[in-house]
Amino acid sequence: MKMDSVIILGKPDVKRGVPVMTALAQRASVREFDSVEISLKDLSDLLWAANGVNRPEEGKRTAPSAQNAQDVDIFVFTKDAVLFYNAMKHQLELVTDGDHRDLLAGKQVESLKAPVFLLLVSDISRFRFGEEELKIQWGAIDAGMVAENILIFCASEGFQTRPRAWMDRNKIKALLKLRDTQIPVLNLPVSARSTR
Ligand SMILES: Cc1cc2nc3c(=O)[nH]c(=O)nc-3n(C[C@H](O)[C@H](O)[C@H](O)COP(=O)(O)O)c2cc1C
Repeated sequence: MKMDSVIILGKPDVKRGVPVMTALAQRASVREFDSVEISLKDLSDLLWAANGVNRPEEGKRTAPSAQNAQDVDIFVFTKDAVLFYNAMKHQLELVTDGDHRDLLAGKQVESLKAPVFLLLVSDISRFRFGEEELKIQWGAIDAGMVAENILIFCASEGFQTRPRAWMDRNKIKALLKLRDTQIPVLNLPVSARSTR
């Protein structure tokens, strides 16, 4: 994939996929990934399904969030770069060059076969009220909502994925220059449909 500083994504195909009950019947976490590259169109639809804007007139998203804080951001780790998903503009923005997927994979090196990892980061400063402990809880719940959208999309498309809490949070925070309020919650390696 060519890494421009901004990649404008296409309109989501809201007609794709199998019936939701079939997707649920197929949903499973994969441990052994195939290294099947994901096309830009598929990545675009996956990101929109994950946490895109589905009601532009209200600026609301495919995933719910406590207080409508829209606290969950998605960073896309590829073999070439890390990109930020700007949901409002439905575009990818270059954060840094290089392959940093190993910071997410850790000891589970088998997941590095997946060409793309999605990192879900909750920015708890977007919650307007509540105790810090509660905000951290809401952030984790909201990231879970986004993760489930990813899991259902992947199940529907026959893509391989797995929600993962393990990652090197300190190194990721340093790499992405995250503020203290930005908490990496979950990451999901994704491979496109296997021909197996
Ligand atoms: C919050 C959360 C954190 C997880 N963290 C990891 C992880 O760090 N590494 C891993 O291999 N799997 C992780 N998993 C995947 C679970 O092990 C997996 O969902 C579980 O075994 C059930 O399998 P299934 O998803 O196929 O139903 C995590 C799942 C959840 C929901």
